Amino acid sequence: MYDASNNFLNVHEWAYGATEVVHILSLAVAIGFITLIDLRLLGFDVADASSARLQRATAVGSLIGLVVAITTGFMVFATDPVRYFNHPTMRFKLATLLVAIIFNYSIHVRVARGDFPLAIRRVVASVSLLLWLTIVFSGIFYSFT
Ligand code: HEM
Repeated sequence: MYDASNNFLNVHEWAYGATEVVHILSLAVAIGFITLIDLRLLGFDVADASSARLQRATAVGSLIGLVVAITTGFMVFATDPVRYFNHPTMRFKLATLLVAIIFNYSIHVRVARGDFPLAIRRVVASVSLLLWLTIVFSGIFYSFT
């Protein structure tokens, strides 16, 4: 039977804090890179680069950011799994995260790299921004409730 009181992060307060910090930094890196592409798709000039070039330049960085954010998220989750699992906003965040990841690696990458009309590029960028913002605000929301 899993006993959360023996969890490394619960025994060492500094480890809990450090993991939270890495969670926030890594999600900022991942979403920051994705947002650059979204701004370009919306029509803003980002570093004089095309969306395809931005996508290629940031692909590894955003993937690493996502992997670290998800790993540290589950590490913090494991410090109090019953409470987190029963929190509706946590479930909502995880469901939205799944949708955002599928959207990002199917439609978003394809539109960023392809030659699509401006209207499609704008819709895809808006959906992407909405999904990631929803995830961030869900995370902040259950941290304070
Ligand atoms: C890229 C994906 C993710 C984003 C953008 C994200 C976003 C956030 C944000 C903004 C916070 C609030 C930080 C604060 O104000 O203290 C947070 C905290 C947290 N996240 Fe995530 N998260 C992600 C993935 C995950 C995953 C996969 C899990 C695992 C279940 C998770 C579990 C948690 C937990 C347990 C907390 C701490 C809540 C508390 O303070 O009690 N996150 N996340």
